[in-house]
Amino acid sequence: MVEQVDVSARAAAIEYAIRDVVVPAVELEAQGHEIIRLNIGDPLAYDGLPTPDHMVTAFKAALDRQDNGYGPSYGIPELRHAITSRERSKGWDCSTDDVYVTHGVTEALQIIFAAFLEEGDTVLAPGPHYPPYMAYPQMYGGTTVEYRLDPDDGWRIDLDDISAKMDDSVRLLVLINPNNPTGNVATPEEVDALIEIASLWPKCTIIADEIYDGLDFTGQQCSVASRSEEVPVIVLNGASKVYFAPGWRVGYMAWHDPQGRLELVRDGVERLLRSRLCASTPAQHGFLAGLTDDTGWLEGHRATIRKRMDYCLDRIETIEGLDCEAPGGAFYLFVSITNPKMAADDKRFVLDLLHQYHVLLVHGSGFSPEFGQGHFRMVCLPPVEVLAEAFDRIEAFLRG
Ligand SMILES: Cc1ncc(COP(=O)(O)O)c(C=O)c1O
Repeated sequence: MVEQVDVSARAAAIEYAIRDVVVPAVELEAQGHEIIRLNIGDPLAYDGLPTPDHMVTAFKAALDRQDNGYGPSYGIPELRHAITSRERSKGWDCSTDDVYVTHGVTEALQIIFAAFLEEGDTVLAPGPHYPPYMAYPQMYGGTTVEYRLDPDDGWRIDLDDISAKMDDSVRLLVLINPNNPTGNVATPEEVDALIEIASLWPKCTIIADEIYDGLDFTGQQCSVASRSEEVPVIVLNGASKVYFAPGWRVGYMAWHDPQGRLELVRDGVERLLRSRLCASTPAQHGFLAGLTDDTGWLEGHRATIRKRMDYCLDRIETIEGLDCEAPGGAFYLFVSITNPKMAADDKRFVLDLLHQYHVLLVHGSGFSPEFGQGHFRMVCLPPVEVLAEAFDRIEAFLRG
């Protein structure tokens, strides 16, 4: 037996439920089974939701003119300007210096956690949440504590729970709006109340993950930065969801720091950004076209998603054993398994469904051990015929 080299505890602890469940799915595919994959929030994986042509053309044009070199560490100037305009249009005084282009929001998160967190610090994040909010902070000595989203009230933010969990160790308070996995959209009043709570804790900065902002079906989604006069807010967004180009790996953070509290941490962030060189140059040109050209095309994509989401909600309503709070935005459903025996082990539920009926979901506890248990997350991005087949299989599985 070869003696194994040790893995670090920090790497061994990383979990990403959305892709971890793909491992058994790939094994089944290798045996010749066709799996309906409803696990990953990638619109390009399904028919009918392509990256817009003008963005693809701009990406290709950058390649053709050999714009393939390293770019500036904070992003190409034209893109930083366009992002600034986008953020200003949402009602806050963003300047180009406030904008940093990254390899997607996911890289921005790693950089933010690396710059903010020391041993013993806390990130207060919604439960349930997008998994990196739990996985990454521990790499920098931090701990993620979850605040409760109310499962019986559309996964609304429990503001009392946030208040109860705030203390001086909370360096970052996270709002994902619209939320992944629940689809809840916070009202402007809830956003104001959250800012009010944060304002009592001067070491606290808000992370506003607004990557699904254009997929709000309630009409009430608002920019957190536009509503904060004192509390620092780091806005996160990018090309992945609303511009339908997740594989390009382009995103940004925009820093709203009205009182100038973050100068030191910002210096750290800029050092980290310089040390990782830059984001993909041609992809930045593609995203730039998305930001500067007409966005009328988005209505069609939104309507497609809405139709598919409504179909899923209708089906769930007729299936005994499932229940779901209707989402206000994004493209996920966070479905409650109502049979207590099945709900007790949601990962088992997902794996059994996968092995027996070849439908791939993600277990709810992968989005929050505390608040996600007894649920699964599915994307409602595939065409209705695919969703229909998936629900037929889920229904058969539940009937046993
Ligand atoms: C809330 C949220 N933030 C960030 C991301 C990832 O963003 P990016 O592709 O820009 O890294 C996702 C992807 O599913 C997400 O759901």
